[in-house]
Amino acid sequence: MEAAPVRVHLQTPEPAHAPEFLAAVSASRPLHRPWVSPPATKAAFRAHVARCGEDNFRSLLIRRNDDEALVGLANLSAIQRGNLQSAYLGFYAFVPYAGLGYMTEGLTLVLRLAFGDLSLHRVEANVQPANTASLALVERVGFQREGFSPRYLRIGDVWRDHERWAALADEWAARAAAGRGGE
Ligand SMILES: CC(C)(COP(=O)(O)OP(=O)(O)OC[C@H]1O[C@@H](n2cnc3c(N)ncnc32)[C@H](O)[C@@H]1OP(=O)(O)O)[C@@H](O)C(=O)NCCC(=O)NCCS
Repeated sequence: MEAAPVRVHLQTPEPAHAPEFLAAVSASRPLHRPWVSPPATKAAFRAHVARCGEDNFRSLLIRRNDDEALVGLANLSAIQRGNLQSAYLGFYAFVPYAGLGYMTEGLTLVLRLAFGDLSLHRVEANVQPANTASLALVERVGFQREGFSPRYLRIGDVWRDHERWAALADEWAARAAAGRGGE
């Protein structure tokens, strides 16, 4: 069976994207809260773009192929080389494009980049137990649940429990061989 065509592509954020990005963040506040706090001011977006120039950070806008609509964003942060070859994955969708499968396709492209061009071995995603949409998404794109981290991350001034999920390069390749995504 042939794989369905991918409806999105990835793009590195640039200063010129600021108005569009900030409008999307503003419109998506009810979707994002309390899970993530994306850059919400011109200065914060400028700092985010500047961070994209660092070796240990990649940020990818997820855009719809048909019309370049900004449907979401994913970050690979704390990229570590040497014997780890790992990174953390963060992500969010933008209104009105959530729930349409675009993030599933976008994160699949991000993992393809991570395990392909970036030669990573492990990508970790930490998700709050009540964040069912995010848990479903990471599982759908091939992450495995590794464990539970009490009071793992401070969000909104509270240390929040998280589930620890990871995707590994070899499992990604095995998924691809089985026709379930991957490279
Ligand atoms: C988590 C989040 C990114 C998930 O985004 P999403 O839009 O639900 O993800 P997808 O684009 O893959 O959409 C999946 C949904 O689309 C549906 N869908 C529709 N068409 C689809 C298609 N062609 N392919 C796959 N799924 C499709 C799926 O059935 C699924 O719906 P369901 O959840 O009712 O089963 C989003 O809820 C969000 O931004 N949350 C706030 C930020 C956040 O929590 N970030 C993560 C912190 S750890």
